[in-house]
Amino acid sequence: MTLLPKDSNGCPYLQLAPMEGVGDRSFRKAMASIGGFDEAVRDFLRVPRQAHIESLAKGYTPDEIAPIPLAAQLMGSELDLMAAMAREMERKGAPRIDLNCGCPSNTVTGKGAGSSLLKEPDFLHSVAKSIVQAVSIPVTLKMRSGFDDTSLFRENLFAAQESGIRYLTLHPRTKADGYGPPANWDLIAEAKSLLRIPVVGNGDILTVDDALRMLAHTGCDALMIGRGSIINPFIFHQIKAHYAKVPYVPQWDDLMKYFQVYRSEVPAEIPDKTRVNKLKQLMGFFFKGNSALLEMRQSILTSQFTDPDSFMQFALPFLEKGLTNFQRR
Ligand SMILES: Cc1cc2nc3c(=O)[nH]c(=O)nc-3n(C[C@H](O)[C@H](O)[C@H](O)COP(=O)(O)O)c2cc1C
Repeated sequence: MTLLPKDSNGCPYLQLAPMEGVGDRSFRKAMASIGGFDEAVRDFLRVPRQAHIESLAKGYTPDEIAPIPLAAQLMGSELDLMAAMAREMERKGAPRIDLNCGCPSNTVTGKGAGSSLLKEPDFLHSVAKSIVQAVSIPVTLKMRSGFDDTSLFRENLFAAQESGIRYLTLHPRTKADGYGPPANWDLIAEAKSLLRIPVVGNGDILTVDDALRMLAHTGCDALMIGRGSIINPFIFHQIKAHYAKVPYVPQWDDLMKYFQVYRSEVPAEIPDKTRVNKLKQLMGFFFKGNSALLEMRQSILTSQFTDPDSFMQFALPFLEKGLTNFQRR
């Protein structure tokens, strides 16, 4: 059975990308409250050299956004520890384990992890294989196209595939690229033509049109969207609606739910000021993605509030004024 099934209208499987920091639990909960995506990947759990597996594993709750599955992502390079952590994830109920081969290198793990694995395809293979052999749930890998450059791109693709992973997600920028140049979708097409395992395309999908272009350009099997979903939390619904051939009209109530769930899920124990800043950040992204709100964005970002409720009261009239295309009951 495919791990990346299309929906009944032929819409490819849609995944919410892991995004450490911005895309935290509160964001995943808020996104899940409006739905539209088929699966999410938790931001990486770092597995350092002297990891205490059980304490680290506390960071992952498999049913966090149930019934939407939430995959666990691991970042590390100690083979035995990665295997042990993977087993613990499986024991907790993870539907899938993803190996991070994309984040900036991290020296805590000794040999380097995340994107550092891309410097040594053989070692990447060993780390992935240690996880594959440790668990019976699907193991996948998410990678950038290289560390400094793409000279080892093909070697890394094959090293990943031969480790026994079920599919590969490609964010086609090198670690050195950061987020500067556009994602090179040609490399997704290349991965697709070289590999027999499925490839999930990721990088710079901000609109339905981008999603369709990526699929047409690369032939990838599924899509993962990160920043595009922070800017436009309805993007998954819009893509699905395109395949269903129905117009998608965003609902005002869904938007309110999205912000309210986010607000209530930001941990109460963190200071009010920080909670306001998190809300402001989320709202700032949303305003950025909406031409009707763009000119009001500065007012949101420079506002001075010390409690989340007052900030929400302040932001509401801007949303009401700008979002005339949202359907209200
Ligand atoms: C703030 C931030 C945090 C990220 N954290 C992770 C992470 O924990 N694991 C990972 O594999 N990728 C991480 N990424 C990369 C994204 O998952 C994704 O590959 C990248 O943003 C490109 O996709 P996009 O253009 O749809 O955002 C992060 C990206 C951002 C912007």
